[in-house]
Amino acid sequence: MRFSGLQAPRVARRPRQGGDPMRMLVTGGAGFIGSHFARTAADRVPGVEVVVLDTLTYAGNLRNLETVLDRPGFTFIHGDICDRESARRAMDGCDVVVNFAAETHVDRSILDSGAFVQTDVDGTRVLLEAARDLGVQRFLQVSTDEVYGNVEPPHRSDETDPLRPRSPYSASKAGGDLMALAYHHTSGVPVLITRGSNTYGPYQYPEKLIPLFVTNALDGKPLPVYGDGLQRRDWLHVEDHCAGIAAVLQRGEPGGIYNLGTGQEHPNLEVIDEIIRLTGVSRSLVRHVPDRPGHDRRYALNTSRARALGWQPRIPFEEGLEETIRWYGDNRSWWEPLGAGEHARGR
Ligand SMILES: NC(=O)c1ccc[n+]([C@@H]2O[C@H](COP(=O)([O-])OP(=O)(O)OC[C@H]3O[C@@H](n4cnc5c(N)ncnc54)[C@H](O)[C@@H]3O)[C@@H](O)[C@H]2O)c1
Repeated sequence: MRFSGLQAPRVARRPRQGGDPMRMLVTGGAGFIGSHFARTAADRVPGVEVVVLDTLTYAGNLRNLETVLDRPGFTFIHGDICDRESARRAMDGCDVVVNFAAETHVDRSILDSGAFVQTDVDGTRVLLEAARDLGVQRFLQVSTDEVYGNVEPPHRSDETDPLRPRSPYSASKAGGDLMALAYHHTSGVPVLITRGSNTYGPYQYPEKLIPLFVTNALDGKPLPVYGDGLQRRDWLHVEDHCAGIAAVLQRGEPGGIYNLGTGQEHPNLEVIDEIIRLTGVSRSLVRHVPDRPGHDRRYALNTSRARALGWQPRIPFEEGLEETIRWYGDNRSWWEPLGAGEHARGR
């Protein structure tokens, strides 16, 4: 691995030549989904060069990348996507960009939205400008089903639906999407957007619903349920989410938006009951707490566009949840230093 300095990194790379392997910039690649994507690319795509740009907020963790950091062709750059110079240096010579970097926790956005607007909107703009000037071949903006806002049954959001975000997090992500489309229309940046549903799996920071409840259950701590717990979500395993992003990156149409989800809905209480069953803790740990302000009741996606690219989620929720609980049980040394259970409730 090449680890660049903490300040204004300058990456020493020779100029690109024809026949060189593909070089991919993965921003936010030390976070939950981005690190899965970066590890999978390094493991499975022959000859690919992966450059991770990450500023290592509380949610970024180099341990998420420890299996690939020392690989030839893998470069970690500690830097901020909002910083023009860092973004350009990291992107220089890259064929494709996948932008995972974001502030991602709804509860934090309600308390203080500044960093959300900064990274999720303006950071995206900085990356798009660099992509325009450097002529990258594909720019994939990783977005979320939350940009559609609350979805009344039985509707499922189509990619053409209006954006009705209702939290500072989802409003910032919607701003990033619109910025990406604007650079596509005005400057021809070959933008692709994925809108994934709630994602779970190993290495997720224990403030979001599943890892918070799993780590609290493993420690015998209270399980704080927002409101009546009947909010409905479509849970997508991180491996399936990343496979969807890879499919869109390879076969999506520039300017296109692709929803990624399983099509299965689960009320939060059902997920919590399953965690209780699989960890064997008492249901008396459940505490109903006041609901999150503006909490969306339901997200649901029509994913036929992504499925037409040949992608489909493969991991059944029950199986993925059991495997995730096993991972948190086996990897206490990963999450205990993060202060699990001290965070607010999950998304
Ligand atoms: N987790 C989900 O359920 C979910 C669902 C759909 C879409 N998404 C989207 O996927 C992406 C990744 O989500 P995640 O859950 O892995 O997030 P995460 O919070 O685990 O990781 C975010 C990463 O971005 C980095 N980062 C933050 N600000 C940065 C900046 N200014 N410059 C460089 N790096 C920065 C952090 O250090 C961290 O490593 C986000 O764009 C999110 O909106 C997440």
